[in-house]
Amino acid sequence: MSNDSASLNLAGKDVPLPVMSGTVGPDVVDIRKLYGQTGAFTYDPGFTSTASCQSAITYIDGEQGILLHRGYPIDQLAENSTFMEVAYLLLHGELPNKDELDKFVYTISRHTMVHEQLATFFRGFRRDAHPMAVLVGVVGALSSFYHDSTDITDPQQRLIASHRLIAKMPTLVAMAYKYSIGQPFLYPDNSLGYTANFLRMTFGVPAEHYEVNPVIERAMRRIFILHADHEQNASTSTVRLAGSSGANPFACIAAGIACLWGPAHGGANEAALNMLREIGDVKRIPEYIARAKDKDDPFRLMGFGHRVYKNFDPRAKVMKATADEVLKELNISDPVLDVAKELEHIALSDSYFIDKKLYPNVDFYSGVILNAIGFPTEMFTALFALARTVGWVAQWNEMIADPEQKIGRPRQLYTGSAQRDYVQVGDRK
Ligand code: ACO
Repeated sequence: MSNDSASLNLAGKDVPLPVMSGTVGPDVVDIRKLYGQTGAFTYDPGFTSTASCQSAITYIDGEQGILLHRGYPIDQLAENSTFMEVAYLLLHGELPNKDELDKFVYTISRHTMVHEQLATFFRGFRRDAHPMAVLVGVVGALSSFYHDSTDITDPQQRLIASHRLIAKMPTLVAMAYKYSIGQPFLYPDNSLGYTANFLRMTFGVPAEHYEVNPVIERAMRRIFILHADHEQNASTSTVRLAGSSGANPFACIAAGIACLWGPAHGGANEAALNMLREIGDVKRIPEYIARAKDKDDPFRLMGFGHRVYKNFDPRAKVMKATADEVLKELNISDPVLDVAKELEHIALSDSYFIDKKLYPNVDFYSGVILNAIGFPTEMFTALFALARTVGWVAQWNEMIADPEQKIGRPRQLYTGSAQRDYVQVGDRK
C-alpha cells in the first residue's frame, strides 16, 4: 500500500480511496469498496485504466519500450536462454539452476505424447479447417483425457496439468499441420530439445531422418520466447476469467486460444504477412499508407500499433534481426521483407504514425520469418498459441494461488429499456 491516497467527489460527498504501489510502474487506485460506499460503478470498456489483478510475472513499460519477465529484460532472455528456462522462470519465479533445469526438461519431455485417441479426434475435422479451430477443440478436449489433473484445488494436479499443457502443445500444433497437408502424425522424439522436437514433428516425415538447422532452431526458439507472456493481454485475461470460475486448466487454455485467434491480437501476424503480400511492391506503399490514414477506410496497417507500447515494441527489434538472419541462412530474397522494411521506414517518418505513437509490433516481422521457414500463414497464430501457453499457465497458476482471487464479474452501465410489461404476441404492433 502506498502512503498516498486518492479521493473521489461524488454527489457532493468525498470518498477516500487507497492507493497501491507495485515494485515499479504506475500506482493503482483501489476502488474495490467504491460500490459499497457510493452505489456507483466505474466505467472502463477495454480496461484501458483498470488493473484486474496483482501479478509478479511480467512487467511492461509501454512508454519506455521495456518488457521484463520476473525482472529479466526480454532481449537478454531471447539472446541467452532456452525456451525451457523461460518457461521455468515464468512458472516458478526464478531462473533454474542446472539441476532444476535438467529435471524440468526431463519432466516436460515425458509429457510430450498425447493420448492415442486424440488422433481419432483429429480425424473428425475437415482437412481445410483452420489450425486455430482445431486447437480450440483439441486443447479443450484434453480435459476429457487427463481427469487426474483437473482438480484445481490440488497444487500437485495443477503442476501436472501445467507440465502437460506446455509439453503437449507442440505435439498438437504439429499434428494440426500434418493433418492439414495429409501427412502422417509423427510421435515426439524426446532426445531432441523442445524447439527441435517441434520442428521435426512439423517438417519431418517417418521415412527420413530430419536434420534440424541450428539457425532455424534459434529463430524458432526466439519466436517462442518473444511470445511466451505479455502480462494481462486479452487472451491471458480470458484465461484468468475462465479460470476464476474454477474451470479446469485445459478448458481455460482453450478459451485463451479462442481469444488469441482474433486479428487484433494473435491473428495479427497472419494478417500482417497477408497485407505485405497484398502490397507486393514498395511502389504501392504510399497508397496503403494513405488508406491507413483515411478515417473512412477501415484498413489498418497490420503489425503496427499496440495498446501498451507507445514508444517501440522491444520484441520487434529482436524479430527484425532474426528475419535478416533466417533469410540469409536460407538464401531467400523475399520481396515481402523489402516491403516490410520500406513500410516501416515510411510509416516511422509520417506524422500520422508519429503523433499516434504507432510502431511495428512483434508481429510485423514474425510472419516474414515463419513464411521463410516454411509455415503456411494459417499456422502463424497456432505457433503464437504454442508459445503463449507457457504464459497462460503461469498466470493461471498465480491466479489460483492468490488468496484474493474472486470470480471475475465486471459490472455494466445499463442502457436498455427500463422495466415494462409483457405484451401478448397478437397485441404487438
Ligand atoms: N494503422 C492505422 N491506424 C491505427 C493503427 C494501425 N495499425 N492502430 C491504431 N491506429 C489509429 C486508430 O485509428 C486510432 O486513431 P484515432 O485516434 O484517430 O481514432 C488511434 O490510432 C488509436 O487506436 P486504437 O484502436 O484506439 O488503439 P488501441 O490501443 O485500442 O489498439 C491495436 C491497439 C488493436 C493493436 C491497434 O493498434 C491495431 O488494430 N493494430 C493492428 C493490429 C495488430 O497489429 N495487432 C497486434 C497487436 S500485438 C499482439 O497482439 C501480439
